[in-house]
Amino acid sequence: MERVYSAMRPSGRLHLGNYFGALSNMVSLQEEFQCVYGVADIHALTTEQGLATQKIKENTHEMVLDWLAAGLDPEHSILYAQSAVPEVLTLHTILSMSTPLGWLMRVPTFKDRVRQLNETEDSVSYGLVGYPVLQTADIIFCKANWVPVGIDQAPHIELSREIVRRFNNLYRNIFPEPQIKLTNSPSIVGTDGLAKMSKSLDNHIELAQNEHETGLRIRTMVTDTQRIRKTDPGRPNVCNVFSLHKLFNPKDVDRIFHQCTNAEIGCVEDKDYLAMGINNYLAEFRERREEFSRKPSYVTEVLFDGAQKAKKIAKATLAEVYGALGL
Ligand code: TRP
Repeated sequence: MERVYSAMRPSGRLHLGNYFGALSNMVSLQEEFQCVYGVADIHALTTEQGLATQKIKENTHEMVLDWLAAGLDPEHSILYAQSAVPEVLTLHTILSMSTPLGWLMRVPTFKDRVRQLNETEDSVSYGLVGYPVLQTADIIFCKANWVPVGIDQAPHIELSREIVRRFNNLYRNIFPEPQIKLTNSPSIVGTDGLAKMSKSLDNHIELAQNEHETGLRIRTMVTDTQRIRKTDPGRPNVCNVFSLHKLFNPKDVDRIFHQCTNAEIGCVEDKDYLAMGINNYLAEFRERREEFSRKPSYVTEVLFDGAQKAKKIAKATLAEVYGALGL
C-alpha cells in the first residue's frame, strides 16, 4: 500500500484554516493509504527558543487532541512526535552531508522566514537553513510516496525530491521520490477579512472554542465595509461572512444572498447565523474532543504507541542507509 506522510508544527489548538487546509484531508486519506503523521516539535525549535520551548509539549497535547477529535485514527495511522524518534534526526544529519548549501539558501520560504524573524542570513540559525532537510528526513524515513500539504509547502517538497534523487544516485535507490498531494480545499480568510486565517495574525477561529466564544469571535468579523446602515443593501460577493456561509450554511446561501442584497437582514443577525452554522458543524468534533480530554493520559499513550511504530520503521530505514554508505 502506498504511504502518505505529513506533519504539523505544534502550534497548540488548531483553527478552521488548519482544518480545511490540511487536517480534513489528512483524515480522509486514511481510507486509501497507510498514513504517518508527525508533530514537528524539533522543527518548532527554529522559532521557539529559551523559555518558549517549555510550551511545546502542551501545544503538542492540544494539537493532537484536535487531530484525534477530527478523526485521525491511531489504530490505522501512525501518530508520533518527531522528538521521540531520534533515528529520523540521524537520517537528517546524513542527508545534510549530501545537500548543497546553495539549494537551501535559494528556497523562497527560507528568504521569507529570515525576513519574518527579523534576522539576517548570518544571524539565522543553522537549523533554520536545514529546515527542509529535516522535513525530507521526516518524509522519507517511512518511504512515503505522497505528502498532503498546502501550496505554500510546494518548494519544500520539490527540494525533498532533489535531495532524494541525489541520495539515490550517490548510493543506492532506497527512497521513492515523494510527491505533493495538493488539497483542493478552500483557503479560509481570517476574521479581519484581510489575510489567510492564521494564529499569529489572531484572525482565527479555534475548532475547540465553545459556542459562546465562537459567537463573540464571529461578531468581530469584518463584512462589506461600504454597508454602514442596516438599510443599505449589502454586497455578499465581497463579504467574508458570506463566503463562510457557503461552507457552513450551504443550504441557506441563496436566501441569505437575497436578504442581504435587499437589506432584509443586518450584519449582526447574519453573523449570528454563521456562528450557529459553525457551531453545528463542529458540535460532534467538540464532543469527541471533550471525551478524549477527560482521559488524561490518552494523548500520551497514543503518541507513545505511535513512536514505537515509527521507531521500528526508522531503525530499519537507517540500517539500510548505513549499509548503502558502507558504515
Ligand atoms: N514544514 C511543515 C509546516 O510548517 C511541517 C512539516 C515538518 C512537514 N515536516 C514535514 C510537512 C514533512 C510535510 C512533511 O507546516
